[in-house]
Amino acid sequence: VENGLARTPQMGWNNWNTFACDVSEPLLLETSRIMIDTGLRDLGYNYVVLDDCWSEKRGADGYLAVDESKFPNGMKSVADSLYDDNFLFGMYSSAGEYTCARYPGSLDHEEQDAESFAPWRVDYLKYDNCYHMGRMGTPLISFNRYNEMAKALKETGRSILYSLCSWEEDFVHTWGGSIANSWRVSGDIYDSFARPDELCGCGDATNPHCIAPGTHCSVLAILNKVAPYIDRGMPGAWNDLDMLEVGLGGMSDEEYKAHFAMWAALRSPMLLGNDLRAMSAKTLSIVNNPAIIAISQDPCGRPVHLRHRETHVWSGPLANGDQVVIFLNAANNDVDMEASLEEIFVSEGVGGTAPQVAQEWNIHDLWAHRMRDKDSKAILDASDARAACKHLQQTQLNDVRLF
Ligand code: GLA
Repeated sequence: VENGLARTPQMGWNNWNTFACDVSEPLLLETSRIMIDTGLRDLGYNYVVLDDCWSEKRGADGYLAVDESKFPNGMKSVADSLYDDNFLFGMYSSAGEYTCARYPGSLDHEEQDAESFAPWRVDYLKYDNCYHMGRMGTPLISFNRYNEMAKALKETGRSILYSLCSWEEDFVHTWGGSIANSWRVSGDIYDSFARPDELCGCGDATNPHCIAPGTHCSVLAILNKVAPYIDRGMPGAWNDLDMLEVGLGGMSDEEYKAHFAMWAALRSPMLLGNDLRAMSAKTLSIVNNPAIIAISQDPCGRPVHLRHRETHVWSGPLANGDQVVIFLNAANNDVDMEASLEEIFVSEGVGGTAPQVAQEWNIHDLWAHRMRDKDSKAILDASDARAACKHLQQTQLNDVRLF
């Protein structure tokens, strides 16, 4: 949506994947402190998002009250502290009678809740899809439910990034971008690269459009889910592949690198989901790779496409004419992978120019050496991914970035 927000995919941290309902003011503030100390904030991870389970029951006046045992100083105090440290603050509700964890939802209370969020200095709303009172089943019915909150947020006059958590329900990819900055493409992510027995689909089996319900989505299952919708992602409106699992422990480091790189290259929101207080050096070295963050935040905003299904070759252009190329080995063993330049570049140039297949290309392996070419020293040393991206735009023409 053209609200000036999420021109590149939003980055930050959300508590859900590790802490679920175990939320509190100290958790958010301690995490934000670590984001500063580790340099993550300055790499672009600037939203701290509080997920489900933060409220009391709705009061007699119809307004939501914050659970004081978890947030004794209230929500504005949390937001103020985050603000002082140059973060933005995100919160959560649901377009339903309840949230997914059965706390009060915002359905039919959209204005009241938006009226609470704005003075609390909320900059981001993740808006879920549970207990929707049967108000689902056609794109229009679902759209209306989400649009009520879009209108209420706009009415507050505050700039609030609007992130739909509508899984893939009711063709959200067809209408999500008209009212929101991102929308989910699958059920909930699961800390696994691939699961043979997985059920990954939409959330609600009662929806006639939900062909395969299930909320245990591995990285590979989510990649399959997003494949048909890739072109829907663009500045201001992104496919949300769900929050990152890097560092939670269920995958190998190589799998986490693939997960992180694919989320970046597909321009998913990049919300860390791990416990930053217990983050290993290895995990940090994955999520702070400035060259890969620069791809996520490339101003061009063009997601990679699957070029070769069998060998999982993905590629796509960057703003400066570089190409991102990913060879994703989804097997459990070493495999030889190859793709021709024609396959990699297809005819998808930036601004309509076909890439020059016949010319020479420099190749950078962004994991082995982050940026290897002597010309990209500035990227290697860059602590600010946005600056790195600008640098690339000016000097790195016609290079291939390889995962
Ligand atoms: C749903 C969402 C999750 C999380 C939980 C909270 O399952 O998809 O990301 O927000 O609800 O209850």
